[in-house]
Amino acid sequence: MVGIGTSPGKIILMGEHAVVYGKPAIALPFFSVGIKSTAKVIQEESKIESQCYTGLLRLADNEIPGIKRLVEETLKYLNKNEEISLKIESNIPPQRGLGSSASVSVSVVKSLFDLFDVALTKEVLSKLVFVAENIHHHNPSGLDATTIIEEQVVLFEKGKELQYLNTNMNGYLIVADSGEFGHTKESVANVQKNMKVNPLKTKESIDQLGILSTNAINDIEEGDLVSLGSHMTQAHKHLQDIGVSNNTLDNLVKTALQKEALGAKLTGGGNGGCIIALSDNMVDAKNIADALLGEGAKHTWIYHLKEI
Ligand code: PMV
Repeated sequence: MVGIGTSPGKIILMGEHAVVYGKPAIALPFFSVGIKSTAKVIQEESKIESQCYTGLLRLADNEIPGIKRLVEETLKYLNKNEEISLKIESNIPPQRGLGSSASVSVSVVKSLFDLFDVALTKEVLSKLVFVAENIHHHNPSGLDATTIIEEQVVLFEKGKELQYLNTNMNGYLIVADSGEFGHTKESVANVQKNMKVNPLKTKESIDQLGILSTNAINDIEEGDLVSLGSHMTQAHKHLQDIGVSNNTLDNLVKTALQKEALGAKLTGGGNGGCIIALSDNMVDAKNIADALLGEGAKHTWIYHLKEI
């Protein structure tokens, strides 16, 4: 008996950080990358094989505490005490704002439910995944896990019902990995600090980021790539202002804009991780991707938004 669980990555299009302060954010599933978890019942003690840790599940507390708890909680929910082996294969670079940790959790839960042939609802998946997300991030907004579970373009606002956006975007998103680890927890703490030290300016930027997300809803639904690009670039400026960008990300954003991108910004927690740029044609998208690699990006993907 083998259980398989697969899940995509995610991209925050607009609203990162502002979402922590109750503003809307828009995120997309990113199907160019993903995770596959394979679970089996075994006779010997439970074990796990992954990029971050390979060994007995019992000893995984330091390296992957969230996944360890997640497996325990999921087996408890399923009322199973079998020993299992779990193999996690991923091509989502970790800590780059592409949803690696939430995607691992989603694929693990799916694989365990599949192993024991139990139907899994989104509500149960979501509840279980948050066990791990809370350990990884301490109080995450839930945007990552929600997007990866739903596999749709979502408009997310804390405390409000999730909305799905009908996209009509015949464009290309160029995703570039700076190769630097993002530092979401530190970035979130930094914004919190700036809220205290410089409340007026920081609040103004967060408000503007919220307004830009709201404007982007219309762009997405109307397929107005020029307007969306402009809103993305404006968002990057506010993300700089709240202190979550760095020179590497700024340089990649500048490079994309010089190569005719319709807009560009960092995505995710920032201070490392990835940037995204928008183009309405493949020729420009390839030029942008090449230029970003020339400026030191470690990897680029060209994501046709029609794929979603
Ligand atoms: O770094 P990521 O992709 O997990 O994105 C974090 C997004 C933030 O808005 C900065 C934090 C959050 O919990 O939503």
